[in-house]
Amino acid sequence: MEPALFEYYAGGSADNLTLRDNRTAFERLRLNPRVLVDVSAVDPSVEVLGHRESMPVMVAPTAMARLAHPDGELAIARAAARAGVTQVLSSLSTYSIEEVAGAGANTWFQLYVFKDRAISEHLVRRVEAAGYRALVLTVDLPVPGLRENLTRSGFDPSDLTMSNFTEVMKGHQEGGFFTYIHDNFDGSLTWDDVEWLHSITDLPMVVKGVLRADDAVRAVEAGVAGVLVSNHGGRQLDTAIAGIDALPAIAAAVDGRAAVFVDGGIRRGTDVVKALALGARAVLVGRPLLWGLAVGGESGAADVLAMLRAEVENAMALCGVPSVTDLPPDLVT
Ligand code: FNR
Ligand code: LAC
Repeated sequence: MEPALFEYYAGGSADNLTLRDNRTAFERLRLNPRVLVDVSAVDPSVEVLGHRESMPVMVAPTAMARLAHPDGELAIARAAARAGVTQVLSSLSTYSIEEVAGAGANTWFQLYVFKDRAISEHLVRRVEAAGYRALVLTVDLPVPGLRENLTRSGFDPSDLTMSNFTEVMKGHQEGGFFTYIHDNFDGSLTWDDVEWLHSITDLPMVVKGVLRADDAVRAVEAGVAGVLVSNHGGRQLDTAIAGIDALPAIAAAVDGRAAVFVDGGIRRGTDVVKALALGARAVLVGRPLLWGLAVGGESGAADVLAMLRAEVENAMALCGVPSVTDLPPDLVT
């Protein structure tokens, strides 16, 4: 990949401390496996918002996948369909809501709320019509994080068209990508806007970017179906807590009233098992899908999901847990 494009995918914000901690937080955790449990057959499948996921791993929304491969989000959707897991499509995708819906995966749509609410409502209507099964409201980007790496690398995707907005606003962003975000995304969002979104659609909602137990409780009280514990892959507030470290308190506070998910730094089957033991229903993975896509398009992305599937099953067997529904919390210390 072009260095500037690679940097956009790989990089975090400011000093990349949270980016690093997302990984080291998992590496700090130890597993306490059970023995003499029949694990001749493990079942990694899990029910998530009415859909049977083949494994507790879903695809996180990542903008502008066409930067990695000409088939972009289509290839990721086809790989997700082959793996039997849900793909969350970014608002800033480079294939449209409708094109990706046609790829056969179970899809959710990640929504950035525009200052012009008519644009946001228009997106929700298209998502409903295209058969998406949930809305993921991203709440940790009221403004972009300090992406100093992009300034240094001169990242500028202004020749890319944001495929979901061509008919409602100019698809090209003048003045650079983050000016585009700053000028168009609504930084004034509050919990009242969760209520507004619920008023315009019946789609179940997942709030993405929660790192505090009190916010997770607010989300449950606002009627959301899920809370995604996330620091945006270390790309927003640097030195924010790692998702896996924030997860236990949030899972305890939510107390089963909504599904709890986590993302950030998940690279191994053991990371997935740790996250579930600490209270997640499932995890989401971002960058690894982009690397698979960049290397080999749809088959590259599919290989990443297949490797993760094999590793989850291996970790479950070696932990003595034949089903994802019976992971004891003391499995992890
Ligand atoms: C993202 N992420 C993101 N999140 C979101 O809500 N909307 C978006 O458009 C994007 N775009 C995006 C682009 C790129 C290149 C990356 C790496 C990430 C954040 C993403 O959904 C997820 O939270 C993190 O990527 C998870 O961390 P890992 O798995 O990448 O370590
Ligand atoms: C990013 C925004 C687009 O992380 O979510 O690049």
